[in-house]
Amino acid sequence: MPPQGRPLLDRFFTLTLLILSFALNNSLAQSGKTHPWANSSLSPDERAAMVVKEMTLDEKISMLHGTGMMGLSPMSPLAISSNGGAGYVPGIARLGIPAIQMSDAAYGVRSSGENGRYSTALPSDMAGAASWDLDAAYQYGALIGRELRAQGYNMTLGGGINLTREPRNGRTFEYLGEDPVLAGKMVGSVMKGLQAQHVLGDIKHYALNDQESGRNAVNINIDKRAARESDLLAFEIGLQESDAAAVMCSYNRAWGDYACENKYLLTDLLKKDWNFKGFVLSDWGGTHSAENALAAGLDHEEPGWIFYGDDLKKAVLSGKMAATELDDHVHRILRSMFATGVIDDPPQKSVVDIMGGFEVAQRIAEQSTVLLKNDHAQLPLDASRIHTIAVIGPHADVGMISGGGSAQVDPPGGNAIMPPGKGNTHWQDHIWFPTSPLKSIRAKAPGAKVQFDSGSDPAAAAALAKSADVAIVFAYQWESEGMDLDSLSLPEHQDELIAQVATANPHTIVVIESGGPVTMPWVDQVSGILEAWYAGSRGAEAVANVIFGDVNPSAKLPITLPRSESDLPHPTVVKPPKATVAADRQGWKRIAAGLPAFQVTYDEGVKVGYKWYDAENKAVLFPFGYGLSYTTYTYSNLKITQGKNPRVSFTVTNSGNRAGAEVAEVYASLPVAAAEPPKRLVGWSKVKLNAGESKDVAVGVDPKYLSIFNVEKDGWQLIPGDYGFMVGGSSQSLPLKESVNLK
Ligand code: BGC
Repeated sequence: MPPQGRPLLDRFFTLTLLILSFALNNSLAQSGKTHPWANSSLSPDERAAMVVKEMTLDEKISMLHGTGMMGLSPMSPLAISSNGGAGYVPGIARLGIPAIQMSDAAYGVRSSGENGRYSTALPSDMAGAASWDLDAAYQYGALIGRELRAQGYNMTLGGGINLTREPRNGRTFEYLGEDPVLAGKMVGSVMKGLQAQHVLGDIKHYALNDQESGRNAVNINIDKRAARESDLLAFEIGLQESDAAAVMCSYNRAWGDYACENKYLLTDLLKKDWNFKGFVLSDWGGTHSAENALAAGLDHEEPGWIFYGDDLKKAVLSGKMAATELDDHVHRILRSMFATGVIDDPPQKSVVDIMGGFEVAQRIAEQSTVLLKNDHAQLPLDASRIHTIAVIGPHADVGMISGGGSAQVDPPGGNAIMPPGKGNTHWQDHIWFPTSPLKSIRAKAPGAKVQFDSGSDPAAAAALAKSADVAIVFAYQWESEGMDLDSLSLPEHQDELIAQVATANPHTIVVIESGGPVTMPWVDQVSGILEAWYAGSRGAEAVANVIFGDVNPSAKLPITLPRSESDLPHPTVVKPPKATVAADRQGWKRIAAGLPAFQVTYDEGVKVGYKWYDAENKAVLFPFGYGLSYTTYTYSNLKITQGKNPRVSFTVTNSGNRAGAEVAEVYASLPVAAAEPPKRLVGWSKVKLNAGESKDVAVGVDPKYLSIFNVEKDGWQLIPGDYGFMVGGSSQSLPLKESVNLK
């Protein structure tokens, strides 16, 4: 049906553009005989070079910027052919080059609601990391890739990988935890799955964008060695594993320069040292100049052309920028398009496979839910022996919370806590997905009386809990891009609610829906705790399967849960002085011109997450890598084989009475001379084991993971000496240990 109530001219215009964009998308296929670069047996570099040779200066420049976004830049009339995503770069029809249609897609495709489409919400990226499952990560990326294509996009803006250096960061849920090896490998797998669908992948926000407060102004100071061994290592591994097509440089400054005009980050490291062949695009409004940014290595400005339009043209025409340099920026984009197949195999719009998406989302949620506490084997619940269950918590009757900002996926039917038909979602709304804990628990325990209380009156909730065999409290903490949390405490007096419920009923299980760590002053009062993260489209079904034992939990924490904020490296998130906040409607102009910097110093350096708590001898609530199962595992037979890539082999046995999957973690301690924190993760393997079964496991260790970064020599260095290898089921439970001397 045509859109209602739009002027005829507007409709005519849209139709013309649609025909044009159809022509653009199909132009290579049609003109394949005439364009030599249509030959897919040539390398992506050869093909890109042929196209670049044919391009005019204006065509080249048109590839190096977007077409604008309301409120962030001027808008080009060409933007009308955008598919409705955050970024759009028109194609070049005469050369058969299709448009780039970019969409945010951190845990699913963004803006489906306003575009009248549908997208699956996967569990948050942090949840995905909790699976420690590279295949699940691949499926995560593949699903997003399929849904992007079905909606007409050929590039993701997902792939967030900033380390959880500051757990109050409002985007913690979009990232993959606190360890560079885990985060790097997991994002690598997500990108492989995504790019296999012929979609341009993107890893972001490069780099050190570890807090949201004052993100356009902040200057990050950190020791270079520490940065290389932490935040930057995550990017290095992610790119090495995946050949992602693009890297998005971040808003913040680092070592005095904006990340998007930081030669060290973009050229010395990314393009030279890591040999990155793809292109760098700026975060939305993260470009601050033409000449500096181009020279530093920024290839593409988003969302508009404040700098990469006239200024860029002037730089080329005046000879300030060499033609070869311009060509390199364009080449990188084209070669990435050829390499990922977006030119040979353009997306075809179709209806998203909703049921298939549900299945993938649920499977990943089941693999991501971490069982933190299970006193007296309270879980799994045996439905046949339970007569009454109290389900308690805000909105636990209708839905589960999701993460906000540009990652936000829109729920089908709209926000589950709004009346039907009020489906519109707004920036930083609290959005609840229609996956109902109450309904899924009722479905699992059809013979039991399952009652609900929202918890708004803790005394009433406690009274209900007292009358039930078991109380299950669904607690939440919402977070989003554009804000940081003031505290890791649960909001809305939920701590008080849980404490009162637990006092009323010793069989209290808490399910936490959060983006990252929350503090748990009631930890000793409850009998069971599950961390369900932002659990996605089928979160409630997955959690119920874990609670009732259809699924044996196998996830492990990708972050440390601290006992309190006072144990974090910094007592509070450093906020920008008022003068640096660009809040008015023209704020983007002042951001583009450059806000005055304020300083944040990461003096904890490489000590991110467990490395901090280990080095500082601080006890934690639940350690990195921790997670319980309904069975038990034992470890034996540790052997270290020396060589270029040391191999750590051992045996894992399922010593309990049900099948499960154990994440077997390998850590190393470096020689004293390395002056590193006590241990670092160097590898892992997720092992499926039937009851009583044993398996031999071998984990090859990349020597880089055992090295330190030598700033003077500008390279990784393996310090000769004694290396301790430790193996087990959590960073604080490592029963196998052996030391070897590596030279
Ligand atoms: C966010 C990016 C996002 C972009 C486009 C920015 O505000 O930081 O992560 O991809 O907007 O929506």
